[in-house]
Amino acid sequence: MSQNNCKRFKTLAIHAGQPPDAAYGAVMTPIYQTSTFAFRSVGQPGPFDYSRSGNPTRKALETCLAALESGAFGFAFGTGMAAEATLATMFEPGDHMVVHNDLYGGTYRLLATLGERRVAVDYVDLRDLDAVRAALRPSTRALWIESPTNPCMNLVDLAAVAQLAREHGLLTICDNTFSSPYFQRPLELGVDIVVHSTTKYINGHSDVVGGAIVVRDAGLAERIGFLQNALGTCQAPFDCFLVMRGIKTLALRMEEHNRNALEIARWLERHPKISRVHHPGLPSHPQHALALRQMTGFGGTFSFRVRGGQEEAFRLLGNVKVFTLAESLGGVESLIEHPYTMTHVSVPPDIRESMGITPDLIRISVGIEDVADLIEDLESALAAV
Ligand SMILES: Cc1ncc(COP(=O)(O)O)c(C=O)c1O
Repeated sequence: MSQNNCKRFKTLAIHAGQPPDAAYGAVMTPIYQTSTFAFRSVGQPGPFDYSRSGNPTRKALETCLAALESGAFGFAFGTGMAAEATLATMFEPGDHMVVHNDLYGGTYRLLATLGERRVAVDYVDLRDLDAVRAALRPSTRALWIESPTNPCMNLVDLAAVAQLAREHGLLTICDNTFSSPYFQRPLELGVDIVVHSTTKYINGHSDVVGGAIVVRDAGLAERIGFLQNALGTCQAPFDCFLVMRGIKTLALRMEEHNRNALEIARWLERHPKISRVHHPGLPSHPQHALALRQMTGFGGTFSFRVRGGQEEAFRLLGNVKVFTLAESLGGVESLIEHPYTMTHVSVPPDIRESMGITPDLIRISVGIEDVADLIEDLESALAAV
């Protein structure tokens, strides 16, 4: 199927960048497990010469990622952090970045380290546009957004922040890991660069780590492509194949994650041992209206607070049987974790608490199992609380 014939998400997920293989007509893109490619003759390389610079399996995934995010250029990386580190390298010493003050702990660690050594970083609540304006300096180059945020599920108004950035000639970078392109497409709202941990929903089977960047602008694409090659942060062919296979069912999985998570969130909201549920699909979420405006669904990950603090939260974690106590999210299986001592432990305690990551907070990644089994599991674990 040619690119022109396929326009809608579910079709793109299966076909974009993946015509039958030219050599033997293989319907599934082959894994080109090779580090290097023969030249046609002296001075005449073929379309690929060395797998760090480019590989046909990776190219197929990158084309597909670009199509799903409504972008023009996609890049696949060895991890989400490799993608983020590549982006961070785009900035020059002395540059300044305004970063959302509520984001994944590893991103915080990367940018905090960078701030100390190279690029100045200010952490600001990007929900407050006046605070963003106040933080801008002549050396500001970019705004770094995560929406929804991990794990507190706060949203940033992507169109409004992108508009503000454009007025000041700044780049916007948005981590779209939690929604996946199925539920939110930041480039369509004016954001310049989308970054993903494909480890999560995009691959969806908890068997690969990977990352992605998608852009529309050819100049940005050239810089990112240069850095991906220069830093060697690209994804290996076999992992690209697995991510591509995962993408084929992204739409179906996201619908099911979304349905199950919303049902569990509504159930938890009524539970007497739960003091608060952070889920943008609930009318009780302070940015529910924004969620309905910029997302077409809410994904499968959200957080909630257990009455009684850490001791009671640990009792819940220790008594689940279908949910697995583990970091990460976005796989077909349900996971549960304690951000304060697990995913966000690399954030200094005072900042962690100011982000709302306190010992009573639990994050769940709701899988695509039968939702009745998931609710029964939480119900019996909460009975021990
Ligand atoms: C929102 C978000 N961005 C980036 C990352 C980093 O991705 P990776 O673990 O694939 O390096 C994660 C990992 O949990 C994440 O949750």
